[in-house]
Amino acid sequence: MRTKLVAGNWKLNGSREANQRLVSGILASADAIASAEILLCPPFVYLSEIGARIADSTVMLGAQHVAIQEGGAFTGEVSAAMLKDVGCSHVIIGHSERRSLFGDTDEIVSARFRAADHQGLKQILCVGESLEERESGATMKVIERQVGTVLDTVGVQAFADAIIAYEPVWAIGTGLTATPGQAQEVHAHIRSIIAASDAKIAAGLRILYGGSVKGSNAPELFAMDDIDGGLIGGASLDADEFMSICRAAAGTI
Ligand code: 13P
Repeated sequence: MRTKLVAGNWKLNGSREANQRLVSGILASADAIASAEILLCPPFVYLSEIGARIADSTVMLGAQHVAIQEGGAFTGEVSAAMLKDVGCSHVIIGHSERRSLFGDTDEIVSARFRAADHQGLKQILCVGESLEERESGATMKVIERQVGTVLDTVGVQAFADAIIAYEPVWAIGTGLTATPGQAQEVHAHIRSIIAASDAKIAAGLRILYGGSVKGSNAPELFAMDDIDGGLIGGASLDADEFMSICRAAAGTI
């Protein structure tokens, strides 16, 4: 049985004041949720402060992005070692917004995945097809390419602690959610791609769904065999909504 994980990806949102309220709201009920893991991924500049706030709780800290380089003359970048240093256990890799807006190719995503691996950060590798790709029947091929490039670069062993998030691009921030059946089909396929290299790692691999997850649709998504939690954007900025998703993951609603 895989423990479900709910990760809040705040994207480019937040302020010290807003974070204070949001984290207080989350902490007020997080410890009551024993059977699911909760992860917060704020922008880099807030990691230390939020890390200190959640230090005595079960809530974990993650970053949204990581440099390929370990250090040196790379203005504006943040390394995996720095993320570890401020208390991150996880890092999101290859989010569709990084891929479509900031030029992260499958090769660059693989290099980021490897940089995180060297520091023992757990990667949340994001994959997902665009609407055009889905409508042309290319969904599984896109997923195979996105997962396959990382797998070929780092090897299956690097997936022993990693997480994959399936985020159909057409469902991100649009209010359109993949049906539980659509998501399950892709999740099962992702697991089979990993299983072709190592059945045991595939069986333990957590595969999150992301794309307009809310408290209202989380229970039916999380009921599917291969959906092991969620990567939450908009709804992670509202403590009540986020915690209702966490309760769904814990099976308490
Ligand atoms: P929304 O939950 O806002 O659709 O965002 C999903 C996402 O991209 C999380 O990484």
